Amino acid sequence: MLVTLIKGDGIGPEVVASMKKVLKAVDSKVDFEEINAGASVFEKEGVYIPDRLYKSIEKNKLAIKGPITTPIGHGFRSINVELRKKYDLFANIRPIKAPGPLDLKFDGVDFVIFRENTEDLYAGIENRVSSDIALSIKIISKEKSQRIARAAFEYAKRNGRKKVTVVTKANIMKESDGLFLASVREVAKAYPDLIFEEILVDNCAMQMVVNPRKFDVIVTENLYGDILSDLGAGLVGGLGLMPGLNKGKDMAIYESIHGSAPDIAGKDLANPTAMILTACLLLEDCGMTDKAKLIRKAIYKTLKDKNNYTRDLGGNNTCSKFTETLIKNLGD
Ligand code: NAI
Repeated sequence: MLVTLIKGDGIGPEVVASMKKVLKAVDSKVDFEEINAGASVFEKEGVYIPDRLYKSIEKNKLAIKGPITTPIGHGFRSINVELRKKYDLFANIRPIKAPGPLDLKFDGVDFVIFRENTEDLYAGIENRVSSDIALSIKIISKEKSQRIARAAFEYAKRNGRKKVTVVTKANIMKESDGLFLASVREVAKAYPDLIFEEILVDNCAMQMVVNPRKFDVIVTENLYGDILSDLGAGLVGGLGLMPGLNKGKDMAIYESIHGSAPDIAGKDLANPTAMILTACLLLEDCGMTDKAKLIRKAIYKTLKDKNNYTRDLGGNNTCSKFTETLIKNLGD
């Protein structure tokens, strides 16, 4: 099976190399077509996303990517946002669950965030009204809100989940968030067997750090989903452990929640677990659940021993040594 691989920049190449080794070790039958994007490509070719990358994604329909740095306040728009928009990858799915026995404030946290990926303030409609005033437009449509809602409810139904919670700020943004909420409410009516709950985003953030076990499946808008998934990641061990994917009608790009981590890039300090778990989501969606199970078991075992912890988990292990140990643990 051929999958497009974008190794990204910052810690991207390190965590991608680790993920490739693990997939090879389980003989996953995934072959990669490697094409990069981002600043390094721009320097050589004058474009951030080369045509051959678009062609490869369109041909393979599946891609997995490492993080890519986005400059703040100037330069190109995010490549991630660009790809999600171009291929209408409307569902950003982020499972929030600890992959190993870590010392956490809460055990048993296990919820999945369905974040609408194409609208909201991420639509990129911004302008500078004057030198001192800037404007960003928030777009919400019934069609796209219902599309993400259906994806969340269907996921809940298929995976034995009990509850779907919609998160908005509809009390203040009565038009935009009000429309999102009304749209999701309409979809919820078709799923009477699932509990449907509504919560405001500020209360949701508080509940998440006080009683995170109450959440099961969350459906929300683009910006709230982005923030809440980082918050969720913090509850279950941090960004170094959290996988994710972007799904469209017949295409998907798998990518972890974390960014390019410039503070630790090139130092062999990154935790590759998020990237490896992201590959597990790919394997599972492609029917290779046995391989994914094997990897998840090895990750669990590796995280059982604190000597294996990378710096983000409070240890001093390197990305490459962590990977070596994980591969050894595959056999047990
Ligand atoms: P970040 O996720 O890169 O880093 C936040 C903190 O988490 C840093 O302290 C970093 O060292 C740590 N961290 C992240 N991943 C880690 C890992 N695997 N192992 C150990 N520690 C890890 O977020 P930040 O700093 O806001 O963004 C950096 C750049 O990445 C920005 O240009 C941003 O736009 C981009 N970005 C790209 C994404 C993507 O390509 N999917 C997603 C998020 C951000």
